[in-house]
Amino acid sequence: MKRLISALVLAFMLCASAAFAADKEAVILAAFGTSEPAAKVALDDLGAAYTAKGHDIIWSFSSDIIRNKLHGQGEHVYAIDEALAKAASMGAKTVRVQSLHIVPAEEYVKTERRVAAYLAKNPAQFNKVYMGHSLLESTSDLAAVVKAVSAALPAERKSTDAVVFMGHGNDRGPGDLIISSAAHALHSADPMFWLASVEGSNTLDKVFADVKASKAKRVWLVPFMIVAGDHARNDLAGPEEDSWASQFKAAGFEVHSILNGLGSNKAIQSLFLEHTHNTRDELLSGKKN
Ligand code: CO
Repeated sequence: MKRLISALVLAFMLCASAAFAADKEAVILAAFGTSEPAAKVALDDLGAAYTAKGHDIIWSFSSDIIRNKLHGQGEHVYAIDEALAKAASMGAKTVRVQSLHIVPAEEYVKTERRVAAYLAKNPAQFNKVYMGHSLLESTSDLAAVVKAVSAALPAERKSTDAVVFMGHGNDRGPGDLIISSAAHALHSADPMFWLASVEGSNTLDKVFADVKASKAKRVWLVPFMIVAGDHARNDLAGPEEDSWASQFKAAGFEVHSILNGLGSNKAIQSLFLEHTHNTRDELLSGKKN
């Protein structure tokens, strides 16, 4: 009898561990990437938010240029297909790929296309592969992001100070359209908020005159990007004549630049986690379920 019970217990344990293995899940965090150690803090913070929720995470960078640059410095960061291969080698059967891009533009599309190509070549490796969509996917995401970036402004910012956010932007497609929506949403949340982008139609020129006309004496320059990398450090806050900081200084403003990426913002981290958990975009079944 005792032997039978222990045999049953053993059988149960084997079943339980088999079930656990079948359900083993990995999260691939797919960022654009950065090669600046100071900017990487925002990615580390985001990763820590996932780890704190018990996720096994694997990093991948969608920027080939950044991966190649890091590779030259002896650091190997996975491309998305390498990250998928790593998930398979870890025994993951469910994979959640979470885009850490702001909008579903060039880098997001590239990531998704490469995931699809990998799955076409390796159709049997996983049971489920979910795509977690980028930050601004819906009007409720946009409202949450407006709230998150407003709440993160320093206490010293007075309501009469202008705040100019720098998005990356894209010269075509939905990215450009979403950045326009974000600019409108921010400006309606606070009439002293403006958003412009490095690329695309929402240029600084389009808002510069309005910021000047607001009679603000001070302007806060804030990255609207996951990391405060090259664009934030040079194009936004850098000493070159054409940086946004220099242009506002030349126009008589007292300029304060903030060099935090959105990835360090707890409310933004929660929104990404929500996208990871709530997505119904499962790629292997070929349909939304
Ligand atoms: Co760029």
